[in-house]
Amino acid sequence: MIAVQSSASLRPYNTFGIETFAERLIHIRTPEEAQKALERFGPPSYILGGGSNVLLTQPLEGTTWLTRIGGIAVGEANERSVVVAAGSGVVWNDLVQWAVQRQLGGIENLVLIPGTVGAAPIQNIGAYGVELKDAFVRLEALHLPTGQYHVFWPEDCRFGYRDSFFKREGRGQYLILRVWLRLRKKGYRPNVAYRALANWLVEKGIHAPTIAQVAHAVAAIRTSKLPDPAMWGNAGSFFKNPILLQEAVAALKEQYPTMPSWPAGHSMVKIPAGWLIEQCGWKGRREGPVGCHERQALVIVNYGGATGAQVWAFAQKVRASVQEHFGVELEPEVQVW
Ligand code: EPU
Repeated sequence: MIAVQSSASLRPYNTFGIETFAERLIHIRTPEEAQKALERFGPPSYILGGGSNVLLTQPLEGTTWLTRIGGIAVGEANERSVVVAAGSGVVWNDLVQWAVQRQLGGIENLVLIPGTVGAAPIQNIGAYGVELKDAFVRLEALHLPTGQYHVFWPEDCRFGYRDSFFKREGRGQYLILRVWLRLRKKGYRPNVAYRALANWLVEKGIHAPTIAQVAHAVAAIRTSKLPDPAMWGNAGSFFKNPILLQEAVAALKEQYPTMPSWPAGHSMVKIPAGWLIEQCGWKGRREGPVGCHERQALVIVNYGGATGAQVWAFAQKVRASVQEHFGVELEPEVQVW
């Protein structure tokens, strides 16, 4: 039996802590339940994983599915690596902890990212120099219009910076059921190239860090600047870091020599949205129940009782101010529904 709720509050299911309702809410715990829900109610209007990358600005009409497909299983292994399959409803950080405890490498830099395993490929989650795509092997998904199962290999997913096929052409078309990742064993050296991470380790006198030490370092850095969604409603970075042409960045740097930037390939350069927002005076600024976090300007926070529309209106103001000041357009990183 599938569990169907009518007029269900979505407050527990979005990390912004926005109160709104789903006309019909179904918990999908197995692929079979997804098939049943599909037969009975047709394709869902919305699919929610951990609700950690979404801003709900209105009630969700039609059917919303909550993906809760569990299970972590070990597949093909050799001396150097092992392939691990995880259900799309597994909490991402539980999978990271599972891997770290077994000294399996490759996703330790992604520790504490909120959300589910199934959402990870959709936006190619990334942090501290590593992206989901670096460990990704394949995924299995249910094609909602036809009820057929499909396997997606890396090239099918068209991963980009916080981007994939599932955010573009495939948007709303698939329910991700299971994700396979390759985790490393013998001979693996963690990726500690990200500056903040490298600095943290050096300061602690750690020169050849273990997988667990990297996970610990990333967790320490994250918690020192990112607000815990359990305390303060937020969805991590609200905007993406803009990627501009080298010439445009060079022109900006003439005016703002201290602006950080990183090469992003193909004559493109990435600049930090958090820096731009801070320069515009938004860091730590609040308007009613919404504000930019005081230690990470890129994180917009619901300090209590904000509506999605209020958060969105605040975000628009921030965006307009960066546009006016720097002529740079910020693109939301969270999905706005
Ligand atoms: N910065 C400021 N002011 C701020 C925030 C940042 O000047 O208020 C500057 C920092 O000093 C640094 C640069 O901006 O020079 C980058 O800051 P940080 O290392 O904190 O990372 P970020 O670019 O703001 C990105 C991801 C995060 C991820 C971190 C670490 C995006 C949109 N965000 O943030 O991902 O955790 O790097 O890898 O790419 C998320 O996607 O929700 C998320 C939290």
